[in-house]
Amino acid sequence: MKADSRFFLFFGSPGAGKGTLAQMCVERLGWAQLSTGDLFRKHIAEGTSIGKHIDFVIKSGKLVDDTVVMNMVSEWMQEKISEVDAIIFDGFPRTLPQAQLFTDLIKEKFSQSSLRVFELEVESELVIKRLSSRRVCSAKNCQTVFSVSPDSERQAAVPGICDRCGSKLIQRADDADETIRTRLTVYHKHANELLNFFKKSGVQIEKLDGYKPLDEVFENFVALVSE
Ligand code: AP5
Ligand code: MG
Repeated sequence: MKADSRFFLFFGSPGAGKGTLAQMCVERLGWAQLSTGDLFRKHIAEGTSIGKHIDFVIKSGKLVDDTVVMNMVSEWMQEKISEVDAIIFDGFPRTLPQAQLFTDLIKEKFSQSSLRVFELEVESELVIKRLSSRRVCSAKNCQTVFSVSPDSERQAAVPGICDRCGSKLIQRADDADETIRTRLTVYHKHANELLNFFKKSGVQIEKLDGYKPLDEVFENFVALVSE
């Protein structure tokens, strides 16, 4: 593990743009992305015992149990952490116990300044529109995010086909209207306590305007991390 490793938490509601911004950082900066949602969808696609256990929870829009999440994250970190300088945590931590365990893990080996939290701000009505237009790559190791919205910068070059790997694009099972609303409620239930936890631990919450076009969101993020 490198002593100067950096950890970036992308926090924000479903559809705020966490995954898309994280993928831009992977493509353009060579960073690593840990998306707990992507890892769970991979487990479901592979039919693992975790996948079978969480399939219904994900489809309902509720949160997966903290112990399952933490075991999966620790395993991922042990495997990948020595390979990369910077990791984006996309959609993790999501609850107070996850945040406490994660910051304890980081504090053991790194300075407080290695951890930065970015909040993508967007209002609910816009994210509902974005999520109904979202399409994702069906390949479990790709899961690149696209949009079928006519004014989106993330439309696939060939409709219905992933630009990166050529697999079919699909709609996520939890992007049904009813489930989106459950996910938003769950997000708002935990958001304040998580942000307050980071503030009390001395980690500043850095805001990103998620209404801006994607390239601008990316440039604003890069400007902040280059300061
Ligand atoms: P997860 O996969 O993390 O889903 P989520 O939090 O609901 O977030 P999304 O992936 O829906 O949104 P996003 O912010 O990534 O938006 P995106 O970039 O795709 O989690 C799924 C489930 O797994 C959870 O419900 C839970 O069950 C479980 N889970 C995961 N982590 C867990 C944890 N830690 N603990 C417990 N359970 C966990 O963008 C959306 C669309 O908008 C795209 O089409 C994109 O092109 C478009 N878009 C994005 N930004 C812009 C922009 N600036 N302008 C125009 N369009 C934009
Ligand atoms: Mg995502």
